Amino acid sequence: MEIKVVTGDIAKTKVDAVIVNHFDGLERPDGDAAVLDKALGGTIAQLIRTGEIKGKLNELTIIHTQGKLPADRVIVAGLGKKSELSLDKLRGSMANAGRLLRRKYVTTVATVMHGAGIAGITAEDSAQALTEGALLGLYAFRHHITKEPEFGEIKSLTMVSPDRGKVASLRRASNKGKIVAEATNLARDMVNEPSNHMTPTDMAEMAAWLAKNYGFDITVLEREEVEKLGMGAFLGVAKASEQPPKFIVLTYKGRQSRDIDIALVGKGITFDSGGISLKPAEGMEEMKGDMAGGASVIAATSAIAQLKPRINVMAVVAATENLPGGNAIKPGDVLKAMSGKTIEIISTDAEGRLTLADALAYAKQKKAKQIIDVATLTGACRTALGDVASGGFTNNQELFDKVIAAGKEAGEKIWPMPMYEEYKEQNKSEVADIKNTGGRLAGASTAAQFLAEFAGDTPWVHLDIAGTSILDKERNYAVKGATGVPVRTLVNLVLALAKK
Ligand code: BES
Ligand code: MN
Ligand code: ZN
Repeated sequence: MEIKVVTGDIAKTKVDAVIVNHFDGLERPDGDAAVLDKALGGTIAQLIRTGEIKGKLNELTIIHTQGKLPADRVIVAGLGKKSELSLDKLRGSMANAGRLLRRKYVTTVATVMHGAGIAGITAEDSAQALTEGALLGLYAFRHHITKEPEFGEIKSLTMVSPDRGKVASLRRASNKGKIVAEATNLARDMVNEPSNHMTPTDMAEMAAWLAKNYGFDITVLEREEVEKLGMGAFLGVAKASEQPPKFIVLTYKGRQSRDIDIALVGKGITFDSGGISLKPAEGMEEMKGDMAGGASVIAATSAIAQLKPRINVMAVVAATENLPGGNAIKPGDVLKAMSGKTIEIISTDAEGRLTLADALAYAKQKKAKQIIDVATLTGACRTALGDVASGGFTNNQELFDKVIAAGKEAGEKIWPMPMYEEYKEQNKSEVADIKNTGGRLAGASTAAQFLAEFAGDTPWVHLDIAGTSILDKERNYAVKGATGVPVRTLVNLVLALAKK
């Protein structure tokens, strides 16, 4: 889909469909809707009077223009109450409208800058949100489907601004939306791919392709190098897989310094069977997505490299499968992590924290000044927050506040979860320094306390995305399957840090 910004008049735009809006509570069409209504001889006003158009959020009405306008259709999108408008509603509205039009085999669409000037939203904010909504909402993962889809393809989306002086800034805003949405869709692709198509090697190759294309550095450490670094926890998980593990390190340099201003660490389990502590068969296929954290940090880095903020970023993904086998780690085994700490394995299914322990240690060895880790870590977090919010854990409130703000801007919810000292008790082992599970209670917090041991005194935020990485049905601009959370949060955070 080509996305354009032009100056002009929506009433003179010749496309298959133009999108205008109506707010809940208004008695007659307003702004651009009023202009089109006049050309249509009062159809929109009449539909409002009869109650067919109420302006409720996500209400969509199609009016065929029958030659009264250059465009074949006018879509009136309900945006809810004016005072309650948000960027996330604009994203969702654009996504829903796009999918409706695609089902009707509409190929060219034009839209006004919905919401510009309302509830603190600028025309630039609108351009970015509409671009994101369209690209994210029209995403479909059809890589392995050979039959034709039952919907068409929108070839172009034209955003029409009446303000000639704004075209350059609107284009910049739209382009930023395109970069972050495409990065999100890239993460979605990686998560949606089955594990036989997204092995650790495939992840490393994808990262290498992005590095080459967008100009950042990549180092992939192979098993021998990982052994030399003493990453016994990561290697323990990787032991029974026939797929070689890959320790992927990306570096984006946006300023002249060797400092690593921030490290993004992502869980990269390309398939989590549970290992010897085998998971039940039902639903196990979902565990192809257990590398969603890793995909998000790789995709975010590719967007950051395109947006070029003045900041240095490192992304780290310890990628492996977690499988059972004659060579697999077993409950009761003790592993030695890169940090020197010994870990008693209680469940081989608590593998994410093992791989992250060594990834965090690596980021610390490289002197990262602050660390964000992203992981599909615990079923407990999903039980607590569902698919609505990611769990957030931290040892540094100041950094956490910035992460939450970046999430708000992205429309990606992060809920603060407790890190009480008492949870540490549950991770105490009698045979090693720590054990890898903390029992049935507060599973998300005990997992976070495990990671905290390895983050040490580096300012650190852990995002548990076990609930939010995949949706079982579409929701606004998120489609069924991988969401690409929290790519846009990470990009916003890095851009905000670079501004300081
Ligand atoms: N990858 C899973 C967590 C998960 C569950 C992600 C559901 C997405 C959806 C993780 O490796 C895991 O198995 N965690 C265990 C930990 C337990 C053994 C302490 C869990 O949550 O049950
Ligand atoms: Mn597991
Ligand atoms: Zn896992």
